Amino acid sequence: MSTQHDGHTSNGSAAIASPMGSEVSSEAERVLGPALDPAKLPRHVAIIMDGNGRWAVGRGLPRILGHRAGADAVRRITEGACELGIQALTLYAFSWENWSRPSEEIRELMGLLEEFILSELRTLKLQHVRLRAIGRLDELPAGVLAKLRRVMDDTASEDRMTLTLALSYGGRQELLDATRRIARRVRDGQLAPEQIDEATISRHLYAPDLPDPDLVIRTSGEQRLSNFLLWESSYSELYMTPTLWPDFTKDDLVRAIADYQQRDRRFGRTHNRE
Ligand code: FPP
Repeated sequence: MSTQHDGHTSNGSAAIASPMGSEVSSEAERVLGPALDPAKLPRHVAIIMDGNGRWAVGRGLPRILGHRAGADAVRRITEGACELGIQALTLYAFSWENWSRPSEEIRELMGLLEEFILSELRTLKLQHVRLRAIGRLDELPAGVLAKLRRVMDDTASEDRMTLTLALSYGGRQELLDATRRIARRVRDGQLAPEQIDEATISRHLYAPDLPDPDLVIRTSGEQRLSNFLLWESSYSELYMTPTLWPDFTKDDLVRAIADYQQRDRRFGRTHNRE
């Protein structure tokens, strides 16, 4: 069975080779389908949610309705990732560059975020999902930040999955902020320049305790990272699909993971010793 560039198999189904002799309970198989090997799930999936605007324009609707449909997809995919047993899901919800969009669209997006964050509290707790955020959060409107803080506090002890929203986030800005913090520690005599290594940089990122993403998905057919998790995605597997974000379903997520499970992750070595 051949796999096309977007991970769809030639017969249009999500199925690839069945798990390698592993015993899959009927419940796991119901959720995972025969497509996925539960032993090879990515720990951390990160998604560049693109295509809301085109989804709306294609239907003759205002762009904000595309973002609203995008928020429904966020709910769907959070639930799906949880069901699959993914430990960490990171969603690129508002990039640092998005601040240069028309002020009306920014206002509407921030309103949508504020509404979403609070309305999801109950569901997140029921699903045992912890909410976190990365980015220059102090640049967010006070109302969004207050609700974000409240839901992050209220879900801090949930441990089934961590949902991280990247907000006012840029990978270069994250590295700049880390560099400034490290430079201050050097200036204050707490760190010698020779002591700075990769681990030092990782420790000064926005969420140092999150594992690097194993899989980065981008919807809407674009083939770029757009300043997303630049340090953390050094060895991530990339999966690009033409599907617009509001149309992205749980089955699409399964397809992306099935495609990921076929990859040979060598991390620069000649063979996989995982
Ligand atoms: C890209 O679509 C998407 C965004 C700029 C924001 C993503 C926001 C959401 C999915 C909805 C709100 C988020 C949450 C967490 C509730 P685009 O507008 O760039 O699409 P286009 O490239 O087709 O114009």
